[in-house]
Order: sequence, then C-alpha cells, then structure tokens
Amino acid sequence: MANFPIEKLRKIETPFYYYDVELLKATLNELKTEADKYGFLPHYAVKANANEKVLAIIAATGIGADCVSGNEVLACVKAGFPADKIVFAGVGKTDKEINAALDANIFCFNAESIPELEVINELAAKKGKIAHVELRVNPNVDAHTHSYITTGLNENKFGFSMDDLEKVVDMIAKMSNVELIGLHFHIGSQITDLGCFEPLSERINALQDQLEAKGVKLKNINVGGGLGIDYENPDGNPIPNFKKYFEIYAKCLKLRDGQKLHCEPGRSVVAQCGSLITKVTYVKKGKEKQFAIVDAGMTDLIRPALYQAYHKIENITSSKPAEKYDIVGPICESSDVFQKDCSIAAAERGDLLALRSAGAYGEIMASRYNLRELPKGYLSTEI
Ligand code: LLP
Repeated sequence: MANFPIEKLRKIETPFYYYDVELLKATLNELKTEADKYGFLPHYAVKANANEKVLAIIAATGIGADCVSGNEVLACVKAGFPADKIVFAGVGKTDKEINAALDANIFCFNAESIPELEVINELAAKKGKIAHVELRVNPNVDAHTHSYITTGLNENKFGFSMDDLEKVVDMIAKMSNVELIGLHFHIGSQITDLGCFEPLSERINALQDQLEAKGVKLKNINVGGGLGIDYENPDGNPIPNFKKYFEIYAKCLKLRDGQKLHCEPGRSVVAQCGSLITKVTYVKKGKEKQFAIVDAGMTDLIRPALYQAYHKIENITSSKPAEKYDIVGPICESSDVFQKDCSIAAAERGDLLALRSAGAYGEIMASRYNLRELPKGYLSTEI
C-alpha cells in the first residue's frame, strides 16, 4: 500500500483527489531523461489532467503541451507552458478556438480534415499569420485496447486516411496561410502491448518514403500518446517504461536529417500519482453480499462505469482482515459501481478508501450530475 498521510487526509472533506508530487516529479524526470537521450520532444496531453497545480508542475519541466480545446490552450499558456511548444488537435475545432490558438501563437495545429484546413487558412489570413499544421493521419493500426479509446483504425473518426494524403498535401501547397510542418498520429490509449508501436513506426516510414518521392520534406513527426500504465500493481510499477517506449521509436522509426520526433503522453505522466479518496458512508449487509457505500460516485471517477476500468481500491484507515464488498457510489444509476467483490480490509462507516491510479482522466472527467459538487484536487505538498 502506498504511504498516505492519513491524519492530514482525514481533515479534508471527501471525496477529493490526492496527488503525490514526489511521484509526479519522479515520473516527469524519467520521461525527460529518456526522451532527451534521443532529442525527442514530449508534449503533455492536457486532457488527462488539467488541474492548475498539476499543470504548473508539468510546465516547470519545460516540456510542451498537447491541447484539444481553446480552453486547454489558454490554461496551458496561463500555467507557463511556452506557446511555441503547444500543439492543438481535435476533429471539431471551432472558429473561436482556432482564433484563440492563432492569437496565442502556438507551435502548430494538428489538422484532421480538408474543411478544417480551409477554415484555418481563412482565419489565419484574416490575422495576417501563417498557421503551422501537422496532418493527423489515421494509420489503421490496431492498438489492442478498449474500443472506446482505440483511435487509429479506419472505422474511427480521427485523421486523414493514408490514401488521401498526397491529395491533401497538394491542396495545402496552394493555401497561402497554412504551412505543412509535419505528420501526426495517435493509435489509442492505455496501450500495454508496446509492440503496437512497431507497426505504427513502419507505416510512418512507408508514408515518409511516399511523400519524399513527391519532394515533400517534413520537419516533424508526432506519434501521439498511448503508453499504458499498470492499474493492477501501482506500487510495483509506479513509473511507466518510458525507456522501452522511446527505444522502440529510436529503433524502428527512420527519422530524416534534422527531423524532430514529438510525442503526447498523458496517462503515463499523471495516472499513478493520483488517488481518489472517499469515505465509507454506510456498510450495508445483504443476504449474499455486503456493500461498502462510499461518498464518491461515477460523477467523480467515471472510468469504471464508462470503460469497465479497474482501479485498485484500498482501505487506508483499517488494518483488519480483508472482507469482500461491492464498492458502490450514491448516484441513482446501476452503473455507479467502482468494483464488485472487492477485497479490502474490513470497512466501517468513516473509513477512508483510496481508488488508485486515478490521476489521469479522473478529476477532469468529473461531472455535476445529481447536482453534486465537483471533487477538488490537493497536492501532497500543500496539505
Ligand atoms: N494524443 C491524442 C491525439 C489523443 O487523442 C490522446 C488521448 C493522447 C495524445 C493522450 O493519450 P494517453 O497518453 O493519455 O494515452 N478517457 C479515456 C482516455 C481517452 C484518451 C483520448 N485521447 C480513459 O479514461 O481511459
């Protein structure tokens, strides 16, 4: 079990997110060290966790940011990410968001369709600017992950198909206010079979050959995010295997002279440092089952309800022998279950439970359904 400062946690109103700053910094350090070995450039995927205090810690490392909304771009600028390291992706960027990003002078737009390119060109022209774009390409590689977070297949809505690419490159050459600076890929999230990044690298190599034959030279290749984490054993594997991840790209991807490799890690940066802390409201004994009813619900952490995701749960205030519970929230939905038949130290009203590995896609995906308060996030260094 991780070392939680129980007495301090007891003073905070539950449910809330708790972020272990030491682990976050150690993770960032590992990411940077391994990326620096090859001159690779990470952009933290802000969608995983945009808590202001967490963002400020990540920005302080000097890495870039990957945003998917105008508000994320603004939050990153505010948190101290240099604008020239911000990339902006998404299939449905609105005019307002594109204008905000143009005003902020971001590094580039990761564009996903021809109509979007036309709008970027038009809006950049009105401002007398040249917008840098990378084309998001759908490489049709299966990431062997949950279907809701697989993105690189032909059936998904993301990116240009490989077949259309040459046509799109020709179109951009005729646009006066858009400059093509690279290609962007992302095949999915929570990828634990790192072998999936090899076929991706091979597709990129083939595409580069094809484009080079047409005289197209690209300054950047962006491979997106996706590196998975160990939800089963957060204490055994607190830091993802960035070394192996970057080694695969260094080995398989044929970067051209002067070409930069960018990546967009989200979950792998923030997941393990965060826990959702919740209090047991009632222990309800049924005929065959017992329920630990906690004060957090699917509104605070939606991953189990939405993706059948597993989060390790621990009773951090009891050392009694383990018992089995269905751990459920208070929301009026039968999917509001964190885990069935979960073995934790015998629980009683008032105990604190930690839902581990919840730093990514946890706090940021919270909702106010049932008019509940949004959960707050606290750093280990501020309590
Ligand atoms: N780049 C792009 C273009 C993306 O779409 C994503 C995630 C990332 C980077 C970051 O991927 P990561 O390194 O975090 O795997 N809410 C879901 C995950 C959705 C991921 C969406 N895209 C979950 O809770 O599992």
